Amino acid sequence: MSYSPSATRYDAMKYNRCGNSGILLPALSLGLWHNFGGVDNFETGRAIIRAAFDNGITHVDLANNYGPPPGSAEENFGSILKKDFTGYLRDELIISSKAGYTMWPGPYGDWGSRKYLMASLNQSLQRMQLDYVDIFYSHRPDPDTPLEETMNALHDIVKSGKALYIGLSNYHLPEATRAIKILKELGTPCLIHQPKYSMYERWVEDGLMDELEKNGIGCIPFSPLAQGLLTNKYLQGNIPEQSRAAKQHGALQASAITPKVLEQLNALNALAQHRRQSLAQMALAWILKDKRVTTVLAGVSSVAQLHDNLATLNNLNFTSEELSEIETILKVN
Ligand SMILES: NC(=O)c1ccc[n+]([C@@H]2O[C@H](COP(=O)([O-])OP(=O)(O)OC[C@H]3O[C@@H](n4cnc5c(N)ncnc54)[C@H](OP(=O)(O)O)[C@@H]3O)[C@@H](O)[C@H]2O)c1
Repeated sequence: MSYSPSATRYDAMKYNRCGNSGILLPALSLGLWHNFGGVDNFETGRAIIRAAFDNGITHVDLANNYGPPPGSAEENFGSILKKDFTGYLRDELIISSKAGYTMWPGPYGDWGSRKYLMASLNQSLQRMQLDYVDIFYSHRPDPDTPLEETMNALHDIVKSGKALYIGLSNYHLPEATRAIKILKELGTPCLIHQPKYSMYERWVEDGLMDELEKNGIGCIPFSPLAQGLLTNKYLQGNIPEQSRAAKQHGALQASAITPKVLEQLNALNALAQHRRQSLAQMALAWILKDKRVTTVLAGVSSVAQLHDNLATLNNLNFTSEELSEIETILKVN
């Protein structure tokens, strides 16, 4: 089971510059929120990471709380790195982690204090057996901690060498604008913003993308497939056994699959077929059509899904008719 990465791993992937930075990210990145925890099959996760890297996916996204149980995705990823990514392969990877959601009990294991962010990153590094992460995110804004405290902690983390770059996640326009300004003044500019964005989640279009572009910051939208809704999985109206909606620990509620959503998904799927794409591919391409998007951050539960998603890059173009047809479908009540 020893791993030797494909010699052609950089041939087909498209790399986009992250804002004004020196960093290039693959058009498709891999998220480890689900399917890599202690409850999941370790070898499946390992095969997905290997297949991703073999196909030029150099960016893997984690957070302190990914699992379940929380922390186990980082532990498993650390073991995979240790087993498979030996020698200098670490230098071919951009690894991110985050802190901002509940991680340990008591007043210091959540939100955005300096105490929490610093302690959490130390724990993440231990779990992943790493000296540093490439990107460390404030996972969500904390309404009760001064933004200056959170941003100063991120700046000091970069100065300490435990992270190379800073990211913000789930910051809406007002707090993102303030945070970006503070980080710029501190001399540690924000590298990237990670917002939720899909055909079903459009808030970033109301000013955030413009703000990121204005400040030379990259964008990595998460849950682009609406956790699997925007795939061929639920089209018949039933919930397959191994799907996220069927899992007790899955964050996708079966109740999200309403008759209206099913009608929309089937109409979108017909359009995707017309484009000779799977619905997942069309949903990913739809995110990547915005040139301000650096990379799209999707999760997968199998190597087959990963290959399906990689083939998105074969057709990233939309006609204006296709785009307006998508809008019409999404307006169905
Ligand atoms: N910053 C944040 O607050 C935040 C929040 C959420 C997520 N994220 C990041 O974003 C990443 C992606 O989010 P997500 O996992 O919710 O995203 P997603 O990409 O919208 O959905 C992933 C799920 O879609 C299904 N899928 C993927 N490709 C498929 C294909 N080709 N055909 C059929 N089904 C397919 C799989 O579902 P099944 O498991 O059912 O097979 C997979 O688990 C996370 O892993 C995490 O890194 C960040």
